[in-house]
Amino acid sequence: MTAVECVAQTAAEAVAVAAQRLKTAGFSNTLFESKQLVARCLGLAPAGLDLESARPWTSANEILLNVWLNQRTSRVPLAYVLGEWDFLHFTLTVTPDVLIPRPETEELFSLAVSSMKNEVTAVADVGTGAGGLALAAAGRWPSARVVALDVSSAALALARWNARRWGLEHQILFVQNDLISGDAEYDLVLANLPYVATSELNGLEPELAWEPRVALDGGVDGLAVVRRCVPLAWHALRPGGQLWLEVGRGQGEPTRALLRQAGFREVTLCPDFAGIQRFVGGTR
Ligand SMILES: C[S@@+](CC[C@H](N)C(=O)[O-])C[C@H]1O[C@@H](n2cnc3c(N)ncnc32)[C@H](O)[C@@H]1O
Repeated sequence: MTAVECVAQTAAEAVAVAAQRLKTAGFSNTLFESKQLVARCLGLAPAGLDLESARPWTSANEILLNVWLNQRTSRVPLAYVLGEWDFLHFTLTVTPDVLIPRPETEELFSLAVSSMKNEVTAVADVGTGAGGLALAAAGRWPSARVVALDVSSAALALARWNARRWGLEHQILFVQNDLISGDAEYDLVLANLPYVATSELNGLEPELAWEPRVALDGGVDGLAVVRRCVPLAWHALRPGGQLWLEVGRGQGEPTRALLRQAGFREVTLCPDFAGIQRFVGGTR
């Protein structure tokens, strides 16, 4: 067997080689992605890579990097290549069974936290996916009961795994359910549900084809799942409790109307960091 010849001798050179390969394949965020890949090859956190730039690069590192670069240039999302992704201060295991947690959903959580003025004893995360919102709620309110709901048993298994990874499994109940049921049980309902219109699904970037359709497909206008969820959430909330939802571009105003129709008061619409009116909150 012949040894693999390394084109790079150090971590810094490996980053440069990987970035060039991604650039040649037409990617734009090449430095960020190559640092992520090289850091994980070395078992380092990406933030620690700059301090280890002179670290020797071995043929074993080279083989793993090549496998990952082959996947990435076939448009497998970086998060699935790495097998994990950060959500707030949690690193979550992610597979194609779950949506890759997005930074917008971190914003949703921050908004919900800052709007909760009273004690929080029960929280629901509807459509939990990898479990990010449920974990964040359990971490933020350690004495609260958190219920993570999803139709997908595969997603729930992964969310439970992530809760175990962070020592929060005892605080979160994982329930396979269509949206949310119950009567006056929760102080806070968080929901990042599918909101892409079915007709738009095929025109999206190729990476999205790897993500589960049940996590993306929001029906004819994108709001079919949200529309069913809003009145159910109203019933599931205690008086004074709040619902916080994430939706897509152009869906903020229609969602605000849905909350008002369902009886929510103090309905608020907030923009994300890109200025899109994406977050809708209301009080029962
Ligand atoms: C957009 S993903 C969001 C996942 C996670 N909350 C996040 O922010 O990363 C939507 C999630 O809702 C789930 N879902 C879709 N329809 C549902 C339904 N009717 N009831 C419960 N969960 C549903 C999907 O399986 C998926 O995990």
